[in-house]
Amino acid sequence: MWNFPLFPEQASSNASRVDALFLFELVILAFFTTLICVLIVSFAIRYRRGSKVDRSSPPSANHLLEASWIIVPLGLSLVMFTWSAYVFHDLYEPPADAFEISVVGKQWMWYLQHPQGRAEINNLHVPLGQAVKLVMTSQDVIHSFFVPAFRIKQDVLPGRYTTLWFRPTKIGKHHLFCAEYCGTNHSLMIGWVDVMEPADYERWLSQGGSGPSMVEQGEQLFVRHHCAGCHLGSQIVHAPRLEGVFGHPVPIQNGKDVQFVNADERYIRDSILLPKSQVVAGYEPVMPSYQGQISEPDLLKILAYIKSLGEKEAGR
Ligand code: CUA
Repeated sequence: MWNFPLFPEQASSNASRVDALFLFELVILAFFTTLICVLIVSFAIRYRRGSKVDRSSPPSANHLLEASWIIVPLGLSLVMFTWSAYVFHDLYEPPADAFEISVVGKQWMWYLQHPQGRAEINNLHVPLGQAVKLVMTSQDVIHSFFVPAFRIKQDVLPGRYTTLWFRPTKIGKHHLFCAEYCGTNHSLMIGWVDVMEPADYERWLSQGGSGPSMVEQGEQLFVRHHCAGCHLGSQIVHAPRLEGVFGHPVPIQNGKDVQFVNADERYIRDSILLPKSQVVAGYEPVMPSYQGQISEPDLLKILAYIKSLGEKEAGR
């Protein structure tokens, strides 16, 4: 009869840590709120008009009391700050074994792309115990990817990549919400995260047919959009090679100076859509912009392909 859960279930490795911090702060809050309320009410009763109490020589200074109301709250806030900074850092620092799933939010659905090639809408399948890093962007307005059972939430922004990670610890379906009002059907922009046994996940992946992987699809797009003509060793156009670029510093011409910029997701994206904004030192700004010509899911596939070129280089 009483099914009124105050908390969503804990289904990720970070959930209990977030809850512990939350409960700690809740207890402190409840303690001081109660203390202050009790003091207000009891003083109001004790010193009400007409009550016969000693009102001569009220205390005017108490150094011990003053010191304690400075030191105790300071100490408690520092504990909260350190603890939450620690949890926050871990929430945004994916472990090395995490594999990447691409997420595109659009009015009003979630497009989810697995590295092995299978894509899905509003229903994310993930293997139990495996860390998953989400690389997310939006095709139109700001959305927010929210999985209460994992205690994760992150805004998804047009023109930018944001990331999140989680390690699911419980088999089953968990709610996925859009947590940012994004238009008429915002409330329908919901779905599920389906945590499966790793073997079931493998089976599910292969049910999509053994189509090309995300990297292979990215390579096809790379050729179709004529990127390969210039960037894979052309004799005619002098363009930077892309092997080993991802994750490394790139020299950028900035007026007379050369600046180093880390080639992350944002850099690759800007180089495709706004190629004249950051030109690699020693090259002419001749690349045309692909703004409006490549969809967000396709951009993520090309990005995966360019990343894979970096890994090949690093593995050598
Ligand atoms: Cu998307 Cu609300």
